[in-house]
Amino acid sequence: MNWRGRWLRARACAAMALAGVALATVACSDEARSPEEVAPPRGTSAGAQAGFPLHVWMKGNAAPALSKADKVALESVLRRIATFAPPGYERWQEIAADGAAAARAGDVEAVRRACSACHDAHRARYRERDRSRPLPAPP
Ligand code: HEC
Repeated sequence: MNWRGRWLRARACAAMALAGVALATVACSDEARSPEEVAPPRGTSAGAQAGFPLHVWMKGNAAPALSKADKVALESVLRRIATFAPPGYERWQEIAADGAAAARAGDVEAVRRACSACHDAHRARYRERDRSRPLPAPP
């Protein structure tokens, strides 16, 4: 397969994996997992994001929950974010727990402030040091 074929396949696999399609495990095992198979060409936006699990997760889960102002989804998203706390990120869990409490109380503005509080405190450092860190498995 030429690079374009591999790239298209890797992209399809990533999409299936994101959608939780079981088939992806079969179709995308082995060969697709080797680094040159998975990595899309540098400089594309999908390429830039594929290796950043938290970024992809936030866009797929946190952003839609907030844009729909879905309080139930926001609470569960923020509880899950609390479990992502990498060592050494001060107040990560606390900010996420405050956000979850705000979601439970139905205060979407306070949720939004929790999102920003963490982004302001930690996003730059996370991007610099931990961007390719895999997300911990769900508890
Ligand atoms: C406790 C920390 C924390 C909380 C709370 C948090 N985030 Fe994030 N978020 C991050 C970090 C760190 C990144 C950077 C990941 C990356 O780009 O690799 C990020 C990235 C994102 C991104 C990717 C695009 C961008 O702006 O960088 C979106 C979208 C996002 N978060 C949405 C949300 C929303 C919506 C909420 C609240 C419901 C939220 N986040 C709450 C830590 C947090």
